[in-house]
Amino acid sequence: MRFVILKDISPEAARDRTVKAVFDVLKNIAETQIMDFDISLMQKLRKDDAAFNLAIGKRHDFLQGAISAIMEWMGNEFVGSPAYTHYVCLDKFTTKSLLNSYGIPTPPGALFNGNDFVGDIPTPPLIVKPVAEGSGIGVDSDSLCDNVERAKETAKRKFEKFGEPIMIEKYLSGTELTIGILGYGSELKILPPLEIDFSDLPRGVERFYSQRVKEEYASQTIYRCPANLGEKIYNDVINIAKKTFEVTKARDYLRVDMRLDGGQPYVIEVNSMPGLDPQNSDIPKMVRAMSKDYNWLIKSIVKRSLQTLGV
Ligand SMILES: Nc1ncnc2c1ncn2[C@@H]1O[C@H](COP(=O)(O)OP(=O)(O)O)[C@@H](O)[C@H]1O
Ligand SMILES: [Mg+2]
Repeated sequence: MRFVILKDISPEAARDRTVKAVFDVLKNIAETQIMDFDISLMQKLRKDDAAFNLAIGKRHDFLQGAISAIMEWMGNEFVGSPAYTHYVCLDKFTTKSLLNSYGIPTPPGALFNGNDFVGDIPTPPLIVKPVAEGSGIGVDSDSLCDNVERAKETAKRKFEKFGEPIMIEKYLSGTELTIGILGYGSELKILPPLEIDFSDLPRGVERFYSQRVKEEYASQTIYRCPANLGEKIYNDVINIAKKTFEVTKARDYLRVDMRLDGGQPYVIEVNSMPGLDPQNSDIPKMVRAMSKDYNWLIKSIVKRSLQTLGV
C-alpha cells in the first residue's frame, strides 16, 4: 500500500505545515507521497493507495465532501470521515436538525435564506453567523445582538456580504469547550476536553471565538486542557460528543464545539475535518495535554485504514 496525502494547490501556511508534519509520520509507516488535488489525480491514484486528505478547497466548493465521495466511488481506502459526514457538518443548520432529531442538544436557531426566516427566532441574546463557514468567518462583534430587529438586519447584511444563508441562534454565554474524538465504531478515544477561556481578552473585545479573536488574540486566549468540569457535566459532555460522532457517521477523527448554558452542554458546531496543525490546532493541544505526541495522534488516526488494508 501507499499513503497519498492530498493537498490544496496553494495551501495557507498552517495547512502546508500540517501536510509536512503528517508526511513525516506516515513515511515511517509506509511509502507516502504528497499530491495536489487536481483533475490529474484520478490517473495518478493506484488501487492500493490510501488517501489522507488535507485539501479544503475554496469557499463553498465543499471539496472535503467531494474528495471523500470520489474515494468512495473509486473504491480507494481513505483516512477520515465519509462524504455524508462532511456534507452534514458543512451546513450548520442541517447539522442542528440532524442532532436535534437524535435528541442531542443544540442552541435553538432560525435561518435567513435571503427571503424568509425559517423557524422561530429565539429570544435574545442572539448570535448571527453564516451557515457554512469556518475559522470564524462572518463571526464578528456585530454578530451578538440583544434584540430581534437588530439580529434580522444583521442577518440581511451578512447575507449580502457572504452570499449564503445566515443563522440566528440563541447566544449561550457559558463556558466554551471543544472535544476531540479519535477512532471508529465502538473503539472511540475521547481526548481531554479543551476549554477556550476569553476572560483575559482586552476590554471591548467580544467574549466568543470571532475571526479576529482566532487570528489576532490567540496569545491572550486561555486554553485549558483538560477543562475544569464537574463530574456530571464532564459525563454529559463526553456522552454528547460520542453520540454526535455516531449520528454524523464520523470516522477516525472529529472535533465537536460546545458551549454550556445553565450547566447543560449544547453542540454549536461539528468539525468533520478538524485542523491538525502541530503548532496551533486544538486536537494537537489535547494530545499534548495527555503527554502524547504528534506521532501518536497521526498513528491513531490511520489505525483503521491500516487494519482495513491488512497492514
Ligand atoms: N449559539 C452560540 N452561542 C454562543 N457562542 C456561539 C454560538 N455560536 C457560535 N458561537 C461563538 O462563535 C464561534 C464560532 O462559531 P462556529 O459556529 O463554531 O463557527 P466556525 O466554524 O467559524 O468555528 C464559536 O466558537 C463560539 O465562540
Ligand atoms: Mg467552530
